[in-house]
Amino acid sequence: MIKLTVNGQEQIWDGDPSLPLLWYLRDEIGLTGTKFGCGHALCGSCTVHIGGQAARSCITAMSDVGGQTVTTIEGLDPNGDHPVQKAWRQENVPQCGFCQAGQIMQAAALLKENPHPSHEDIRDTMSGNICRCGCYQRIEAAIRLAATGA
Ligand code: FES
Ligand code: FES
Repeated sequence: MIKLTVNGQEQIWDGDPSLPLLWYLRDEIGLTGTKFGCGHALCGSCTVHIGGQAARSCITAMSDVGGQTVTTIEGLDPNGDHPVQKAWRQENVPQCGFCQAGQIMQAAALLKENPHPSHEDIRDTMSGNICRCGCYQRIEAAIRLAATGA
């Protein structure tokens, strides 16, 4: 039996311990904001926070999150008003939207660790989050805006 906290709620999983966290979130507890892209830690669309750190939920087994605190896009802010989410809206970042939950979760983790990232910091941290629509310039602009606290 695996106990974990997801978006502030305690959860218990007594199924397959090798189940990827991504599928637990989406299929078992209905948190479909986190997306499946590649399944191999190559695209970042499945990014969530585990213990406050950005992590790829597609390659994280349930056995690795026992006792952990997981935050998904649904739990980042109760009203969707995390500074990164506000900046995202202000900069009109998304195009198709598929990668965006992962981008926002990665960006939020970046700003928590490094509140004033340089261009290189942003590029280095966000380079693992692929956007097929090519929204990279708006993603960087939104991270810069969020960093100003506007
Ligand atoms: S689905 Fe997890 S990194 Fe692509
Ligand atoms: S907005 Fe379409 S993949 Fe990023």
